[in-house]
Amino acid sequence: MRHVTTVLLALLWLGCSTDNGANTGANEQPGLDGEAMVPDVTSETPGDILAEPDVARELPVFDEVSFIKRPYLQWPTATSVTLLAETNEQVPLDIVLTYDGGATHTYSEPRKPEFTFLTMPLDGFDGWSHQVDIMVPEGIGQFELTIANAPDYQREVVLPQSLDSFTMIAFGDTRTNLDVHQEVSNQIVAEKPLIVFQTGDLMDSALEVKQWNEFFAIEAGMLESSFYFPIFGNHEVGGESYYYELFETRNSYDSERNWYAEWGPVGFIGIEQYKTRWEKDEDALAWLEESLIKLQDKRWLIFSHHEPMYTFSNHGAWYEGRETIQPLLEEYGVDLVLSGHNHCYERFEVNGISYIVTGGGGAPLYSTGTGSEEEMPLLKNWGKFYHFLRLDISDENIHVTVIDTEEKSVFEEFDVF
Ligand SMILES: [Fe+2]
Repeated sequence: MRHVTTVLLALLWLGCSTDNGANTGANEQPGLDGEAMVPDVTSETPGDILAEPDVARELPVFDEVSFIKRPYLQWPTATSVTLLAETNEQVPLDIVLTYDGGATHTYSEPRKPEFTFLTMPLDGFDGWSHQVDIMVPEGIGQFELTIANAPDYQREVVLPQSLDSFTMIAFGDTRTNLDVHQEVSNQIVAEKPLIVFQTGDLMDSALEVKQWNEFFAIEAGMLESSFYFPIFGNHEVGGESYYYELFETRNSYDSERNWYAEWGPVGFIGIEQYKTRWEKDEDALAWLEESLIKLQDKRWLIFSHHEPMYTFSNHGAWYEGRETIQPLLEEYGVDLVLSGHNHCYERFEVNGISYIVTGGGGAPLYSTGTGSEEEMPLLKNWGKFYHFLRLDISDENIHVTVIDTEEKSVFEEFDVF
């Protein structure tokens, strides 16, 4: 994301008996008025956490804030996590990370980003945007996040880097039918996944700020409780500036839409198909191969793109991907491919890789089930129903459960080895 200001400021030792009073020291300090930006407090080098500084630093106190988009987390690593939010007030967030033996304070800087489509200005959001990287002390896999000037916010955070097994959800195509999207989202939250992954087409028109606000309202529960990662679908085309502002991307190529991530035992690569020309961009393919090589120490490799290489539904298969990308996925041992775009469920097996279409998050359903005689043996299961995938990841396997959200039942389960 552009315009990112990362500010790690004061580090405060709150005593060996932290007793969850992480920000009591801060609240005893004189207040700053609500117009103040991030204060000019002498900072330590980010990540240079003082275990027991001799003297507690003087910390600022900010006016209380209220949220339009409550804080959500992305990009957990062993040493940081990214927090994003939208507040009603132009006031920094005093984010307190409390762990066994200490606490840190990180301050965000409120911004009013500008949005455009080509050269045409687009509406902005009503509130103030926040994005900040919170540095995590080395070796700390679990901590509590609170915000000193938002007393109603509290989140227990476990980093995937500290885990051998966890649950993630995959779903997609959440556009158009808001009631369905809400029901699917409610059922996902109940699964308590560590990570939620969205296969694209978040909303009908990503050019409309109203639809972004509806999307964030519907998915508020999972955004607040899971690490959230989307990829770019065709319905996001045109709304790039909103997408780039609201979601962070790392390890990227060409745009903020091709990236890889590491989640404990999982290496995950997500790409887009609307700017990068995979059929003729040799640099793109070189980036993809380098990313696959970097992730070779991972127990599992998952790859995702919006428009599927294998499908029998309304929109045809991405044949260019079969020619240019599929050989790399096979060479470097990818286990699972996740796509959306067609609003149904499909599971193909091709040369030892499972190719899943999961486009059942709210968009009008499409039929499937019949393809060419040559390719029919590749199709293992399919259905026309709203759904999401639960992926229970362990050292032994990825156990995939396909959950029909209308019937509230399991459609099928299978293991990826
Ligand atoms: Fe699509």
